[in-house]
Amino acid sequence: MSVQATAAEMVAPGKGILAADESIATMSARLEKAGVAPTEENRRAYRELLVTTPGLADGISGVILCDETFRQSTSDGQTFPAALAGAGLLPGIKVDTGAKPLAGAPGEKVTEGLDGLRERLTEYAGLGARFAKWRAVIVIGDGRPGSWARRANAHALARYAGLCQEAGVVPIVEPEVLMDGEHSMAACAAATTATLVDVFAELREAGVALAGAVLKPNMVVPGKSSGELADPEQVAKATVATLRGVVPEEVAGIAFLSGGQPVTQATENLAAMQGFDVPWPLTFSFGRALVDPALAAWQGQPERVEAGQDALADRVRCNSAALNGGELA
Ligand code: 13P
Repeated sequence: MSVQATAAEMVAPGKGILAADESIATMSARLEKAGVAPTEENRRAYRELLVTTPGLADGISGVILCDETFRQSTSDGQTFPAALAGAGLLPGIKVDTGAKPLAGAPGEKVTEGLDGLRERLTEYAGLGARFAKWRAVIVIGDGRPGSWARRANAHALARYAGLCQEAGVVPIVEPEVLMDGEHSMAACAAATTATLVDVFAELREAGVALAGAVLKPNMVVPGKSSGELADPEQVAKATVATLRGVVPEEVAGIAFLSGGQPVTQATENLAAMQGFDVPWPLTFSFGRALVDPALAAWQGQPERVEAGQDALADRVRCNSAALNGGELA
C-alpha cells in the first residue's frame, strides 16, 4: 500500500491515533507514580490492556508503540504488531532515541536517532510497522526557541521523514512546542509558526511527499505557568489560524498531541476546531489525555483490567465524538 493510502487511513473520519510509545524510562516512571512496579512484564501487561480494549478500532486508526513493546507479545502469543493488525489497527513505531542537549544552544534540545535509521526502519517494516513517529522538542522563554534549535530539529525531522517514506512507512512529523513556562498564548503561536515554517522548508528540500505524511503539532495554548486562561474557542481559533498560515494543503492530516493538558480540556479544544473550514482532517494523537485514566483505573491489578479498558474506551469515545460533533462526556 502507498504511504498516501496509509496516511489517509491514519486520519480517517472519526478516528485518531493512540500514542502508547513512552520510552522504558518514562513508562517506568508513570507506573511507579501509579503505584505499579516498573517491571518489563508490567509495561507489557499495561500495553496489552490498552491494545486489546474491545472496540478500540471504532475510534482509533493506529497505535504508536516503542521498540520494547513492538518486540513483545500479548498473552495469546501474538506479537503486538500482529495483535494490532488483527484488531484492525495500524501498527506504529517511535523511532527517535530522545531529545538531547543541543551544542551551541543552552537550554535547547535536538532529537537524536538518525544513525542506522534506514536499517531500523527496514526491520520495523518487516515486523509490521505501517507508520513511525519522531518527536522534536521546542522550548519557549528567555529568547528561545532560537533559529539554530528550530533548524537543527527541522533538519532531523526531514531526514527521518524521507527515510520512512523510502521504507514505505508513513512519518508522523512531531515538532512539539512545549506548554511549560510563563509565556503567553501569543508567544506559543509565534514559536509554533516559526517552528513549522522551518519544518516544512526542510521537508520540501528533502523531497518528502506531504500527502504521505501526518503532522503532529501542539495546540496553541498559553504557557502552563502564565496564569492566562484560554477557552476552547480561543484555542481553536489561534491554533487554526497558525496552521493555516504555514501548513501546506497537501499534508494528509493533522493529529494533535495533548501535551499535558487536562484530559477533558484537550477533548474540548479538539471539538472546537472542527467548525473551521481547513484543507486537512484535524484529529488527535493523544498519549496522556487518552491513557492516564486507564492507568489510574488499572492500578496494576489483573482483576482491574476491564476497569482500565473501560476508562480508555470512554476517552476514545469522547475524542471521537469531538471529531463528529457528538456528546463530549
Ligand atoms: P501527549 O498527548 O501525552 O502529549 O503524548 C503524545 C505524544 O506522542 C508525545 O510524543
